[in-house]
Amino acid sequence: MEDTNFMSQLEGQGPVREPQRQYYFMAKARDYITQMKQTLGRDMTACVVTFGCQMNARDSEKLVGILENIGYTMIEDETADFVIYNTCTVRENANLKVYGHLGYMKKVKEKNPHMMIALCGCMMQEPEVVEKIKTSYRHVNLIFGTHNIYKFAELLWRCIESSEDGQKSRTLIDVWKDTDQIVEDLPVERKYPFKTGINIMFGCNNFCSYCIVPYVRGRERSRAPEDIIAEIRRAVADGVVEVMLLGQNVNSYGKNLEHPMTFAGLLREIEKIDGLERIRFMTSHPKDLSDELIEVMGESKKICRHLHLPLQSGSSRILKEMNRHYTKEDYLKLVDKIRAACPDISLTTDIIVGFPGETEEDFLETMDVVEKVRFDSAYTFIYSKRTGTKAAVMDNQVPQDVIKDRFDRLLKAVQDISSDVCSRYTGETVEVLVEEKNSHDAGMVTGRMSNNLLVHFEGSDELIGRLVKVRLDMCKGFYYIGTLTE
Ligand code: 5AD
Ligand code: SF4
Repeated sequence: MEDTNFMSQLEGQGPVREPQRQYYFMAKARDYITQMKQTLGRDMTACVVTFGCQMNARDSEKLVGILENIGYTMIEDETADFVIYNTCTVRENANLKVYGHLGYMKKVKEKNPHMMIALCGCMMQEPEVVEKIKTSYRHVNLIFGTHNIYKFAELLWRCIESSEDGQKSRTLIDVWKDTDQIVEDLPVERKYPFKTGINIMFGCNNFCSYCIVPYVRGRERSRAPEDIIAEIRRAVADGVVEVMLLGQNVNSYGKNLEHPMTFAGLLREIEKIDGLERIRFMTSHPKDLSDELIEVMGESKKICRHLHLPLQSGSSRILKEMNRHYTKEDYLKLVDKIRAACPDISLTTDIIVGFPGETEEDFLETMDVVEKVRFDSAYTFIYSKRTGTKAAVMDNQVPQDVIKDRFDRLLKAVQDISSDVCSRYTGETVEVLVEEKNSHDAGMVTGRMSNNLLVHFEGSDELIGRLVKVRLDMCKGFYYIGTLTE
């Protein structure tokens, strides 16, 4: 049912250009939704369920942007007319959660003849997963992957077409292995009006031996700096004061650009944007964190006093097996350098327990780094075997009871240090970005400090989105209770 006339107009001499092609499908879907609303005498609703990291959260904002553009009313309820799961597969648990939702949705879908279910995200890049869904979860209408998310409008339209043709049992599948393409300028609906994530690069080339991300997100691709700057400028004009620059390994930004540029260089340019108050970024890899970047962070007025620097293990032997390209000593030296340049910085990390072959001695090396660095917080993970990665076929997988014991000891150490470290600002007055009403107390709001800690204080909704000064009266472990001072 492709409108070849329109397509050929778009085509000119070459291939149809994105994103115009997607706007064309959005218009078609919009007509359909308008018609459905009239026929049913009610709104058509959609729900996006997001699993996983900040990259997925940002992708979901893109999905919402397109769904709203088409005319769906967004709700947070899986009985909506269109439900899409944006999946994660970094650990096996993430996959299990999705199957749980899908099982439950079979009954829900039987009650609503207009319902469509879609799946996208990292888990869909695994062929075995797609095979399983095709055979065991036939109520799914659409599956697409991480490389062609920009085609969402087109795929949604094709689903609408086939459901109109009565082919309800067919699952439309469009998963690509990899792509060079980065499509700009599609609609996106930010979750918060005052802060936003900005993708600066996609994919990962590091192949840490436990990690599935390079297989599901493909090779590293950086966005052109001018596109990033233009997107931030537009967001700032629209009320954004804080950006989070997103990439699997932001420190290697720019290497594959036509005119190579460093991440530090990009930060210098972003810093110049008037009206932008705060810059965050995630995730950094210790092996690529340059002196130039440390210097820029030390000088900057806008880069937040927070660095997430995944350690993964404190054992140099395990780090080698993990293919991380740094040793325990390298990591500790890097921390010293960063703290010398930015004394008030808050450091957070990721740690994996139970990587194949991890001995008690290796684990104690990790504990040693935790005690030496004294992280503001650490995300601790039990090693999860991911099919297709190098570590999955390594000998010496560690028994679950040993892992559990180490995990509990690590968690306790991390938490004790964290509550101690976090309380070091008691009595100080700091600037916070007010993010939301406090969910427990209507008269309170919650703000975020530059170092990423939260503070709850008395205040009204009008403060949301503003940077204000707050005195930190009392530390409650991982957050503060404070008083507005202006
Ligand atoms: N098992 C456990 N944790 C993992 N991570 C990545 N892959 C695995 C895995 N197979 C963790 C790493 C990474 C974070 C996002 O998830 O610590 O930094
Ligand atoms: Fe995975 Fe390593 Fe890439 Fe991070 S840097 S996404 S842990 S492969």
